[in-house]
Amino acid sequence: MTGESWGSHGVGYGRYTGGVSKTFYIETFGCQMNAHDSEKVIGTLEQQGYARVQDEVDAGLILYNTCSIRDKAEQKVFHRLNEYKKLQGEGKRFAVIGCVAQQEGEKIFEKAPYVSLVAGSASYRNLPEMLARLEAGETRITGLDDRQTDETFETEFTARSNPHRGYITIIEGCDKFCAYCVVPYTRGKERSRTAASVLVEARKMADMGFTEIQFLGQNVNSYRDPSGRMSFAELLVAVGEIEGVKRVRFTTSHPRDFTRDIVEAIDATPTLCDHIHLPVQSGSTAVLKAMAREYSREWYLERMSWIHGAKRDISITSDMIVGFPGETDADFEETITLLDAVKYDAVFAFKFSPRPNTPAVGMVDSIPEEVKTERLRILMDRQREIQREHYGRHLNEVQECMVESHNMARMQVVGRSTQNKTVNFVMGAGEVGMPPVGSYVPVRITKTLPNCLVGEALAVGPDAVRYVPVVRQPQFVVLN
Ligand code: SAH
Ligand code: SF4
Ligand code: F3S
Repeated sequence: MTGESWGSHGVGYGRYTGGVSKTFYIETFGCQMNAHDSEKVIGTLEQQGYARVQDEVDAGLILYNTCSIRDKAEQKVFHRLNEYKKLQGEGKRFAVIGCVAQQEGEKIFEKAPYVSLVAGSASYRNLPEMLARLEAGETRITGLDDRQTDETFETEFTARSNPHRGYITIIEGCDKFCAYCVVPYTRGKERSRTAASVLVEARKMADMGFTEIQFLGQNVNSYRDPSGRMSFAELLVAVGEIEGVKRVRFTTSHPRDFTRDIVEAIDATPTLCDHIHLPVQSGSTAVLKAMAREYSREWYLERMSWIHGAKRDISITSDMIVGFPGETDADFEETITLLDAVKYDAVFAFKFSPRPNTPAVGMVDSIPEEVKTERLRILMDRQREIQREHYGRHLNEVQECMVESHNMARMQVVGRSTQNKTVNFVMGAGEVGMPPVGSYVPVRITKTLPNCLVGEALAVGPDAVRYVPVVRQPQFVVLN
């Protein structure tokens, strides 16, 4: 997904340079960091005079921002590139960027010779220079960093796709090297932005009307301010105190770096959302060891007890892998009992998928596919039951919801709670019309389902002060 940029503001629409039309089309796969990278890439391209088009047929430059996390991702990329082949023609250029680009490198030119640019995320700060070379007619341009750089990609031209909720990547890369994971190889070494630069960007965003800020990082809580001024928890509080900011989220946290002051910061700061995504991967200490996660079940459960002990009802979500090499029935059973112990509000579960370059690829993928499938089914069924019951705690609560969209067919509003739950609600008696996207509405929960909540907006009357969104120009965030 990439979402829409807020209209085209590039100059020189349709201009030709070196045979390349200065129009571009971008397709994005993968995690939120990739989605946000695309927002930065789009802004950079627009600043360089490129105009975005919504159909690849009309584009001079086609960019494919790729993900490599699971399931033979590279094969899918080459398959998609093969489809692009049909579009080849005068003035068309192809670029492969993101995690598969970094992973496969120059092999992409061999397999898809019509590609002119292959760049991993650690090289995007050099994009203007790479574009200039592309315009000069070069056809083998690479930006492949391979864990060298200490620099982050900061740009004042980020084209955020949503005017109310905006991402800021505060830390890039990963130094954890879990046995199954490609990220340390595709995203480079861990490096953080300074707290000062993050706060400047967050303040400008608040001035522009953004009310929700989401910090991103592969391990967002491994954040270390290079200037040493602020801890991660202090940065959360500082951004939560910016005038105009109503919600602050952060994802993804790693258990190793999860400190108690994060829970204390949430308890003390109303704008920090009641939600922590803390992937556990497995409930078995033996499997965690084999995965090189560097924590045990007990270590993880201790962090859970901090969160369960908070003053606020902090929602907890997780990622899990089933069928890691060597996972026994007893190990898997420990994952199921962990679900019962923690009571997650959502779990993203995956079958282990061997990935190139990772240590686990050398382990015998010992669990048959049918067993992986069966374990995944058991896990999801159990989790669904937990959610069916656990979501019941919200019945009759009043929750503030940020309006995300309208379901006109059902005359419902789709909102999101501080716990990141979807709330489908109708307007209360006497309310006329629907609240605009980006507004915040108090909603009484009338029904709970395993994956969402249903409610009715409180009838607050015509004089009630309800937050209505503002979107101010300019769109660009100028970093100082
Ligand atoms: N940095 C985060 C996770 C990033 S990757 C963390 O450490 O928790 C997102 C999720 O993809 C992981 O949490 C994991 O559950 C899943 N994943 C990563 N590599 C995988 C693989 N090889 N096979 C299956 N799932 C994988
Ligand atoms: Fe991958 Fe582990 Fe890094 Fe998460 S912490 S991105 S799972 S290597
Ligand atoms: Fe995929 Fe790269 Fe994100 S592998 S999940 S796009 S870090």
